[in-house]
Amino acid sequence: MASISVNSPADFHVHLRQGSLAALVAPHVKKGGFDLAYVMPNLKPPVTTTIQALEYKQELERIDPSVEYLMTLYLCPEITPDEIRKAKAAGISGVKSYPRGVTTNSDGGIESYETYYPIFEAMEEVDMVLNLHGEIPSDADSNTHILNAEPKFLPHLLKIHAKFPRLRIVLEHATTRAAVEAVKSCGPTVACTITAHHLALTVDDWAGQSWNFCKPVAKFPDDRSALRNIIIEGHPRFFLGSDSAPHLPHNKSTSTPTHGCAAGIYTSPILLPLVAHLLESFGALERLEGFVSDFGRAFYKRSIRSGNRKVVLRRPAEGKDLINEKYVLGADSVVPFWAGREIGWEIAE
Ligand code: NCD
Ligand code: DOR
Ligand code: ZN
Ligand code: ZN
Repeated sequence: MASISVNSPADFHVHLRQGSLAALVAPHVKKGGFDLAYVMPNLKPPVTTTIQALEYKQELERIDPSVEYLMTLYLCPEITPDEIRKAKAAGISGVKSYPRGVTTNSDGGIESYETYYPIFEAMEEVDMVLNLHGEIPSDADSNTHILNAEPKFLPHLLKIHAKFPRLRIVLEHATTRAAVEAVKSCGPTVACTITAHHLALTVDDWAGQSWNFCKPVAKFPDDRSALRNIIIEGHPRFFLGSDSAPHLPHNKSTSTPTHGCAAGIYTSPILLPLVAHLLESFGALERLEGFVSDFGRAFYKRSIRSGNRKVVLRRPAEGKDLINEKYVLGADSVVPFWAGREIGWEIAE
């Protein structure tokens, strides 16, 4: 195939940060081929009110008004059913739940899901989406660690779904065969995002390589096969959420004695070519449009906003398309996934 055209791509999970870092990374949504960004709320401080979410949306629109931003709130004890109704009326799409302490800026995350049942009830009523970071915190006494944190979370997903069958739930950034099976076993209100990097990486790739470190960590080859196979199958409840998560280089470094490296892999500026490259590598290129646009848009009930925009991918001239080593704006820089590597597709300008 010499070129592919894709209906208005939509990234249903992305970290766009704030301030100077946002000014650097938000324009990369469009650069990477995407028209819609479902924006995560884990800022400092986290986005917990409708007013904050709307201010954040304005900040992003000032940087790049051409992208459709869908906003989320960060689940926390301060959120009330009234705030949920207010958020819905203001056009906010979802609420993200982070278990306490599991990943970047999640110190204010949740302790127990039952506490939030009144919130889930209100969300079900007004049709807001619950986005689950599906890991439980590491705990030596119960042998919980970064490799089994996701499988151990899955009973919570099934329980919330059973209790609130009409609540739309997305299990974010699935990394295991167990997660794929769990989501498949649920009804039509439960979907799952898959990142580009989890289609590429396994544990061997991040042990000792901090640029490939993210949460949830990439798991075993068999888990990666399950993620790839559900895309090959064209299952409509599994779609792209990049979890593109930029960090400044010094925060990705492991050479500091006092703290580890930040979790997060940055894919926004190369996202559509990268996903095409990966899907082609495992024989799923014909699923590209479903995976990056149709399936997520259908689940989120977001039709294409500006007419029928198509993004065209073509083969790069030989030896030409190497992924940038870094992107810089002022004092900030970010290093993309697969920096310096050759990639099989580019966006035709
Ligand atoms: C910060 C983060 O981890 O979220 N990233 C970074 O590289 N310093 C960005 C922020 O604090 O907003
Ligand atoms: O790797 C990750 N980085 N996982 C997350 O859940 C959060 C993200 C971030 O914000 O950096
Ligand atoms: Zn997450
Ligand atoms: Zn995320």
